[in-house]
Amino acid sequence: FSYPSAALQSELRQIAQAMVAPGKGILAADDPAASLGERLQGVGVDSGAEGRRRWRQVLFTADAEISQHVAGVIMVPETLQQVADDGTPFVELLARRNILAGVNVDQGVVLLPGSEDETTTQGLDDLAMRCAQYKKAGCSFAKWRCVFKIGAHTPSYQAILENANVLARYASVCQSNRLVPIVEPDILLAGDHDIERCQKVTETVLAAVYKALHDHHVYLEGTVLKPNMVTPGQGCPTRRSAQDIGRATATALSRTVPAAVAGIAFLSGGLPDQEATANLDAINKFPCRKPWPLTFSFGRALQGPAFRAWGGRDVAAAHAELLKRTRINSLASKGKC
Ligand code: 13P
Repeated sequence: FSYPSAALQSELRQIAQAMVAPGKGILAADDPAASLGERLQGVGVDSGAEGRRRWRQVLFTADAEISQHVAGVIMVPETLQQVADDGTPFVELLARRNILAGVNVDQGVVLLPGSEDETTTQGLDDLAMRCAQYKKAGCSFAKWRCVFKIGAHTPSYQAILENANVLARYASVCQSNRLVPIVEPDILLAGDHDIERCQKVTETVLAAVYKALHDHHVYLEGTVLKPNMVTPGQGCPTRRSAQDIGRATATALSRTVPAAVAGIAFLSGGLPDQEATANLDAINKFPCRKPWPLTFSFGRALQGPAFRAWGGRDVAAAHAELLKRTRINSLASKGKC
């Protein structure tokens, strides 16, 4: 095998460290066209490409203070081509604010035949070519999401092995093309399992993911992990405090994520925005060995309040909400809420 050259390692490490710089997190704005379209329709805005452009323009024109809290934005490939009203490309708008551009490079989930309705994620075939294009277009990092669901017999060995391997293949292709991979194994909130089950499954999945990354010679210092928080399932009658979630999450990560990994940026996964923030704060406050920055890479928990405030019209209100959420999540990433 051969590791990336010293120059490539250094480039990847610098990008990855910038993505999780102290007090900063990531804004996930890579909503699939269909779900964003639905939300746009709900507030009477065109649900096509123009409506999507208008909402992204709102997100990317907030006060420059946002760059103290947000290090990078995850976009879909379409956004890389889009421009603001005055013709400035979105990627350029972000660069002026010193915010790194990232792109979702997976092509969605498909059923794994033979499993209990489990999935794998597609998009490897022309990935190297697309990564080269995205790097040229100004991107510094990429994202790929694999999905696991907790059920009586899931996630299965088949699903864990397959998804860990596809994440590792994606990560190695990204790194060869000078993009830092965000590795996202998303264990869904759905289900009535308790927090102990979620912790065990999270540990099992992460152990498999890091075994696969090792097997594929991925340079860990040039990667960012995007995991779920360890919580009870949505349908579990026993609710747990942010402190319990902080302990379970920090413990699971400390047992499975190598210290070499540049940082950990959580998905919000449909948690109410204030809960996601309280959990992130509690994870950072929990006293155990945590050799990586622990921050946010929220989609819904950052965009949701801003979108509701916007309602298709009120840009100033949207900007105020977005700043408020990024400011408070920045504090949570330092355990200072
Ligand atoms: P949520 O924070 O809404 O889960 O979105 C993050 C993301 O990028 C999911 O892939």
